[in-house]
Amino acid sequence: MRLLEVRDLEAGYGDVQVLKSVSMHVNEGEVVAVFGSNGSGKSTFLKVLAGILKPWGGSIKYMDQHIEDLSPEDRVRRGIALASEGRRLFLGMTVEENLILGAWTRKDRVKESLEKVYSYFPELYRKRKDLAGDLSGGQQQMLSIGRALMSGPKLLMIDELSLGLAPAVVERLAGILLRIREEEGISMIVVEQEVSLALEISDRAYVFDLGEIVDEGRSEDLLKRDTIRKTYLSVL
Ligand SMILES: Nc1ncnc2c1ncn2[C@@H]1O[C@H](COP(=O)(O)OP(=O)(O)OP(=O)(O)O)[C@@H](O)[C@H]1O
Ligand SMILES: [Mg+2]
Repeated sequence: MRLLEVRDLEAGYGDVQVLKSVSMHVNEGEVVAVFGSNGSGKSTFLKVLAGILKPWGGSIKYMDQHIEDLSPEDRVRRGIALASEGRRLFLGMTVEENLILGAWTRKDRVKESLEKVYSYFPELYRKRKDLAGDLSGGQQQMLSIGRALMSGPKLLMIDELSLGLAPAVVERLAGILLRIREEEGISMIVVEQEVSLALEISDRAYVFDLGEIVDEGRSEDLLKRDTIRKTYLSVL
């Protein structure tokens, strides 16, 4: 079943248009990757889905309801969570305080969610009393994802999963994401520069260029496609 259905989405900043007629969907339980060159509108797209940026036109249906007019807060309440680019943590607060803030839309079962996040990311448990600002880059990314999980999402969106992280850390994060999908049935949109990683962890993918989707398909098929391999995987 469709969890998210986006049709002809247009958006921009001021009078500069960035997204041009973007249509895509996410099925329940699916991991969908989004990649494409710098400035192609990937972060803008996630901002529109999260409600941080108003679309100029088009429609966004989530769980069969239009959500274009919902505030970012209401979208979080309905289960749309964004772990944003740059991670936007409260660096002067502890790991646990950051996580608890992620549960601001809920009153119940906060402790259970906290335990679940700690079970996925044991180092966050060990560092729960440390300041977020004292964590390594990889741990900050875990905290950003953990905080998004605290809202109890059905759709988890991650902007730039691997940015600035060592390959071994990225490998681990990817494994944990797949475990979360497996165990919680959470759908994901993962924006990722590393195209091979993006295609490895996803079921399907969309390729952005200059604000448009220029290619899409099942990730295993895209991995084999010559145009993708030449353009994004540097395979000659
Ligand atoms: N707050 C903003 N105000 C004005 N223009 C913006 C703003 N944010 C992004 N842009 C512009 O919108 C376009 C798309 O940017 P966006 O950040 O969505 O791309 P991206 O695909 O996420 O790029 P990257 O791979 O560098 O993260 C770019 O031309 C960018 O300069
Ligand atoms: Mg971006």
